[in-house]
Amino acid sequence: MAYKLGEVMISREKISGRIKELAAEITKDYNQDNSVVLVGILTGAAVFLTDLIREMPEDMDVRMDFMSVASYGDGTESSGVVRIYHDLKQSIEGKNVIVVEDIVDSGLTLSHLLDILKARNPKSLKVCVLLDKYERRKTEVKVDYCGFKIPDKFVVGYGLDYASKWRHLKDIKSVVDE
Ligand code: IMP
Repeated sequence: MAYKLGEVMISREKISGRIKELAAEITKDYNQDNSVVLVGILTGAAVFLTDLIREMPEDMDVRMDFMSVASYGDGTESSGVVRIYHDLKQSIEGKNVIVVEDIVDSGLTLSHLLDILKARNPKSLKVCVLLDKYERRKTEVKVDYCGFKIPDKFVVGYGLDYASKWRHLKDIKSVVDE
Protein backbone atom coordinates (compact mmCIF):
# COMPACT_ATOMS: atom_id res chain seq x y z
CA MET A 1 0.00 0.00 0.00
CA ALA A 2 1.24 3.51 -0.79
CA TYR A 3 0.97 6.32 1.68
CA LYS A 4 1.03 10.07 1.39
CA LEU A 5 1.31 12.84 3.96
CA GLY A 6 -1.88 13.77 5.79
CA GLU A 7 -2.74 16.61 8.16
CA VAL A 8 -0.48 18.30 10.70
CA MET A 9 -0.97 16.49 14.01
CA ILE A 10 1.47 18.54 16.08
CA SER A 11 2.89 21.81 14.82
CA ARG A 12 6.54 22.88 15.10
CA GLU A 13 5.52 25.66 17.52
CA LYS A 14 3.79 23.22 19.85
CA ILE A 15 6.76 20.85 19.71
CA SER A 16 9.29 23.53 20.61
CA GLY A 17 7.12 24.90 23.41
CA ARG A 18 6.67 21.47 24.94
CA ILE A 19 10.38 20.68 24.69
CA LYS A 20 11.20 23.78 26.75
CA GLU A 21 8.77 22.55 29.42
CA LEU A 22 10.25 19.05 29.41
CA ALA A 23 13.79 20.43 29.76
CA ALA A 24 12.67 22.58 32.70
CA GLU A 25 11.06 19.55 34.38
CA ILE A 26 14.17 17.43 33.90
CA THR A 27 16.45 20.22 35.14
CA LYS A 28 14.35 20.55 38.29
CA ASP A 29 14.28 16.80 38.96
CA TYR A 30 18.06 16.41 38.61
CA ASN A 31 18.85 19.60 40.45
CA GLN A 32 20.60 17.80 43.31
CA ASP A 33 23.18 15.79 41.34
CA ASN A 34 23.13 18.31 38.49
CA SER A 35 24.26 15.60 36.09
CA VAL A 36 22.45 13.38 33.61
CA VAL A 37 23.19 11.21 30.57
CA LEU A 38 20.59 11.48 27.82
CA VAL A 39 20.52 8.29 25.77
CA GLY A 40 18.88 8.83 22.40
CA ILE A 41 17.50 5.87 20.50
CA LEU A 42 18.49 6.15 16.87
CA THR A 43 17.29 7.08 14.46
CA GLY A 44 13.90 8.47 15.39
CA ALA A 45 14.89 10.28 18.61
CA ALA A 46 17.89 12.12 17.12
CA VAL A 47 15.93 15.25 16.18
CA PHE A 48 14.08 15.39 19.49
CA LEU A 49 17.18 14.79 21.61
CA THR A 50 19.28 17.40 19.87
CA ASP A 51 16.58 20.02 20.44
CA LEU A 52 15.96 18.89 24.04
CA ILE A 53 19.62 18.98 25.04
CA ARG A 54 20.00 22.60 23.90
CA GLU A 55 17.29 23.65 26.35
CA MET A 56 19.27 22.32 29.32
CA PRO A 57 21.15 24.86 31.47
CA GLU A 58 24.84 25.57 30.80
CA ASP A 59 25.96 24.79 34.33
CA MET A 60 24.47 21.29 34.31
CA ASP A 61 26.63 18.27 33.45
CA VAL A 62 24.60 16.95 30.53
CA ARG A 63 25.99 14.11 28.40
CA MET A 64 24.57 12.78 25.17
CA ASP A 65 24.97 9.25 23.87
CA PHE A 66 23.10 7.10 21.36
CA MET A 67 22.01 3.54 20.88
CA SER A 68 20.64 2.00 17.76
CA VAL A 69 18.15 -0.80 18.12
CA ALA A 70 15.94 -2.60 15.66
CA SER A 71 12.23 -1.87 16.03
CA TYR A 72 10.20 -1.57 12.85
CA GLY A 73 11.14 -2.79 9.39
CA ASP A 74 9.38 -1.07 6.53
CA GLY A 75 5.90 -1.76 7.92
CA THR A 76 3.87 -0.16 10.66
CA GLU A 77 3.80 -3.01 13.21
CA SER A 78 6.45 -3.68 15.85
CA SER A 79 8.38 -6.90 15.41
CA GLY A 80 8.84 -7.15 19.18
CA VAL A 81 12.47 -8.07 18.59
CA VAL A 82 15.12 -5.71 19.88
CA ARG A 83 18.56 -6.04 18.41
CA ILE A 84 21.39 -3.67 19.31
CA TYR A 85 23.14 -2.34 16.20
CA HIS A 86 25.13 0.39 17.93
CA ASP A 87 25.86 0.53 21.64
CA LEU A 88 26.67 3.40 24.03
CA LYS A 89 30.18 4.85 23.96
CA GLN A 90 30.25 5.50 27.70
CA SER A 91 29.61 3.42 30.78
CA ILE A 92 26.37 4.32 32.56
CA GLU A 93 27.28 2.63 35.84
CA GLY A 94 26.41 4.94 38.74
CA LYS A 95 24.99 7.61 36.39
CA ASN A 96 21.59 9.25 36.12
CA VAL A 97 20.27 8.05 32.78
CA ILE A 98 17.27 9.18 30.77
CA VAL A 99 16.36 7.14 27.71
CA VAL A 100 15.04 9.51 25.06
CA GLU A 101 12.73 7.94 22.50
CA ASP A 102 10.63 9.41 19.70
CA ILE A 103 7.49 7.37 20.35
CA VAL A 104 6.28 4.56 22.55
CA ASP A 105 3.70 2.39 20.83
CA SER A 106 3.42 -1.26 21.92
CA GLY A 107 6.16 -0.54 24.47
CA LEU A 108 8.08 -3.66 23.45
CA THR A 109 11.18 -1.83 22.20
CA LEU A 110 11.52 0.31 25.31
CA SER A 111 10.83 -2.41 27.83
CA HIS A 112 13.50 -4.68 26.30
CA LEU A 113 15.92 -1.81 26.13
CA LEU A 114 15.30 -0.80 29.75
CA ASP A 115 16.09 -4.35 30.86
CA ILE A 116 19.40 -4.16 29.01
CA LEU A 117 20.29 -0.78 30.54
CA LYS A 118 19.18 -1.71 34.08
CA ALA A 119 21.68 -4.57 34.03
CA ARG A 120 24.45 -1.96 33.64
CA ASN A 121 23.69 -0.54 37.11
CA PRO A 122 22.91 3.12 36.49
CA LYS A 123 22.20 5.25 39.55
CA SER A 124 18.76 6.03 38.12
CA LEU A 125 16.98 5.19 34.89
CA LYS A 126 14.08 7.18 33.49
CA VAL A 127 12.24 7.48 30.20
CA CYS A 128 11.44 10.56 28.13
CA VAL A 129 9.30 10.17 25.02
CA LEU A 130 8.08 12.80 22.63
CA LEU A 131 4.93 10.87 21.72
CA ASP A 132 2.92 8.29 23.61
CA LYS A 133 0.52 6.13 21.60
CA TYR A 134 -0.92 4.82 24.84
CA GLU A 135 -3.88 2.92 23.32
CA ARG A 136 -1.56 0.42 21.66
CA ARG A 137 0.47 -0.66 24.66
CA LYS A 138 1.20 -4.39 24.83
CA THR A 139 3.52 -4.22 27.80
CA GLU A 140 3.69 -1.76 30.67
CA VAL A 141 6.38 0.90 30.43
CA LYS A 142 6.74 3.75 32.92
CA VAL A 143 7.05 6.97 30.96
CA ASP A 144 8.52 9.66 33.24
CA TYR A 145 8.47 12.54 30.76
CA CYS A 146 6.00 12.65 27.88
CA GLY A 147 5.70 15.30 25.20
CA PHE A 148 2.27 14.47 23.82
CA LYS A 149 -0.24 11.64 24.08
CA ILE A 150 -1.55 10.79 20.63
CA PRO A 151 -4.33 8.58 19.26
CA ASP A 152 -3.67 5.38 17.33
CA LYS A 153 -2.55 6.92 14.05
CA PHE A 154 0.72 6.44 12.22
CA VAL A 155 2.68 9.69 12.27
CA VAL A 156 5.85 10.97 10.61
CA GLY A 157 8.14 13.97 10.79
CA TYR A 158 10.39 15.52 13.42
CA GLY A 159 12.57 12.38 13.35
CA LEU A 160 9.80 9.85 12.81
CA ASP A 161 9.74 7.94 9.54
CA TYR A 162 7.69 5.71 7.38
CA ALA A 163 9.99 3.35 5.44
CA SER A 164 12.89 5.77 6.13
CA LYS A 165 11.04 8.75 4.66
CA TRP A 166 9.82 12.05 6.10
CA ARG A 167 12.12 12.30 9.14
CA HIS A 168 13.08 15.81 8.07
CA LEU A 169 9.63 17.40 8.41
CA LYS A 170 9.42 20.20 10.96
CA ASP A 171 5.85 19.31 11.96
CA ILE A 172 4.47 15.93 12.96
CA LYS A 173 1.98 14.73 10.36
CA SER A 174 -0.27 11.74 9.86
CA VAL A 175 0.10 9.44 6.86
CA VAL A 176 -2.92 8.39 4.84
CA ASP A 177 -3.65 5.83 2.09
CA GLU A 178 -3.07 7.19 -1.37
P1 IMP B 1 7.09 -0.12 20.05
O1 IMP B 1 8.12 -1.18 20.33
O2 IMP B 1 5.86 -0.72 19.43
O3 IMP B 1 6.76 0.73 21.26
O4 IMP B 1 7.65 0.78 18.89
C1 IMP B 1 8.48 1.86 19.09
C2 IMP B 1 9.13 2.24 17.79
O5 IMP B 1 8.25 2.04 16.70
C3 IMP B 1 9.46 3.72 17.75
O6 IMP B 1 10.75 3.97 18.23
C4 IMP B 1 9.32 4.04 16.29
O7 IMP B 1 10.54 3.79 15.63
C5 IMP B 1 8.30 3.07 15.77
N1 IMP B 1 6.96 3.68 15.64
C6 IMP B 1 5.86 3.40 16.37
N2 IMP B 1 4.80 4.13 15.99
C7 IMP B 1 5.26 4.93 15.00
C8 IMP B 1 4.64 5.98 14.21
O8 IMP B 1 3.45 6.33 14.33
N3 IMP B 1 5.46 6.57 13.30
C9 IMP B 1 6.77 6.25 13.13
N4 IMP B 1 7.38 5.30 13.85
C10 IMP B 1 6.63 4.64 14.79
